[in-house]
Amino acid sequence: MDYKNILIENNDGVVTLIVNRPHALNALNMETISEIGVFFTEDYKTIQNLKGVIITGAGEKAFVAGADIKEFLGIESPEAGSALARNGHDVFNIIEKFHKPTIAAVQGFCLGGGFELALACHMRIAGEKAKFSFPEVNLGLLPGFNGSQRLPMLVGKAKAFELLMTTDMIKAEEAVKLGLANHVVPQGEEISKATEIIEKIATKAPLAIAEIIKTVNAYQDKNSDGTEQEIASFGQLMTTKDFEEGTSAFIEKRKAEFTGE
Ligand code: CAA
Repeated sequence: MDYKNILIENNDGVVTLIVNRPHALNALNMETISEIGVFFTEDYKTIQNLKGVIITGAGEKAFVAGADIKEFLGIESPEAGSALARNGHDVFNIIEKFHKPTIAAVQGFCLGGGFELALACHMRIAGEKAKFSFPEVNLGLLPGFNGSQRLPMLVGKAKAFELLMTTDMIKAEEAVKLGLANHVVPQGEEISKATEIIEKIATKAPLAIAEIIKTVNAYQDKNSDGTEQEIASFGQLMTTKDFEEGTSAFIEKRKAEFTGE
């Protein structure tokens, strides 16, 4: 697909998806969310040897400054507002369930729907100028792309209440302390750190990585039983060629060569 709002860069299977609306601090309009959805459901299949996806924003000032507030103006019914929120939920859930690692590389403002996009990724790397906040209550709103559910999973209920109700801006170091970001790196090194992590994961058994994603996500999913998911995934992995290769390589004292079968 020809995208209008995102850019896709492929660096030897490590894909960077760039939200490319710097004039609006990369705010997510509906078209951008739909393009992200197309990439994660269809277009990723065209990439040979995909190792993982890094999501970032264009320019230095912002990762993503939220949903596009200007598009809110035409919404006049609860149904239309809920449809906008549900669409964000659906696309962000696809990112969370993606079978390869997804990492948000956060430089600058990471606000509202942008924060929610970062929270949907499996990990977050914060540049030292990253700033995280949920400013929705300043607009008479609340987070609409599942932030009210993903945030307490990471920071606990009390801190989630504080962040959502005060709109306090969290800096990179504090984001790591709170468990919101995995690492702080010097500004401009967010993508290289994310790439390093994805390259490391790419040396592991791909089917095991996909099952880890399913199992850890089940921990958060009220409709899934994570314990049963782990037991089922463990059993399934024991019948794979990768398991045979991994255990043989250990016994033969050599490096495993996984094929994802
Ligand atoms: N939507 C639409 N446009 C946005 C935007 C947004 N979320 N954030 C910034 N922009 C636009 C501004 O309107 C401005 O455009 P113009 O030049 O055409 O006026 C441009 O980006 C640059 O922004 P500023 O001039 O405001 O830059 P600044 O440095 O003075 O301030 C900022 C930066 C503090 C991030 C400020 O832009 C801001 O507060 N943005 C809004 C943040 C926000 O409230 N996000 C939550 C959105 S609601 C949401 O996301 C709901 C949900 O969960 C689904």
